[in-house]
Amino acid sequence: MKELTIQTKLAVYESIDELQKDDKSLMIQAKVACDKAYAPYSKFKVGAALLLENGEIILGNNQENAAYPSGMCAERVAIWKAHSDFPDVKMVKMALTIKSEKQVIKSPVPPCGACRQSIAEYEVKQKSPIVIFFMGEEGEIYKTKSLANLLPLVFDKEVL
Ligand code: THU
Repeated sequence: MKELTIQTKLAVYESIDELQKDDKSLMIQAKVACDKAYAPYSKFKVGAALLLENGEIILGNNQENAAYPSGMCAERVAIWKAHSDFPDVKMVKMALTIKSEKQVIKSPVPPCGACRQSIAEYEVKQKSPIVIFFMGEEGEIYKTKSLANLLPLVFDKEVL
């Protein structure tokens, strides 16, 4: 028996103001998307802004449903919107933010497991990394240079 250690490395920014101009602008657009989320049940709004290689910025937010499992996360709304309109254009980076009606969350909120798997599909397909920035409502921002860092041991098409 031997052990396998899996490590991940994230960049930590003190606040949105520490980001480079373009990344700050992407996060501000995620905040705009977040404000428009439809989250009447959880009261937890999530916004995503996805930059494509052709310069398009695709916004997404969570869409809830009275039949709870029929709702959808912001990240998947954004990537599916992007991949349905621009199936051959690579995804470059995604900014994520949240707003809860219950509390002000000041620590970074990462994408859920199902969204990581869904984003990984396109990262594997396009053979180039998708950078992810994520934050709470305010405070620090975490950046990973590739979705793969958030989902080690990904299940992908290679095994099918
Ligand atoms: N949500 C997202 O939009 N993205 C995630 O990565 C995690 C959760 C949404 C789903 C639901 O509408 C609300 O947040 C509470 O779970």
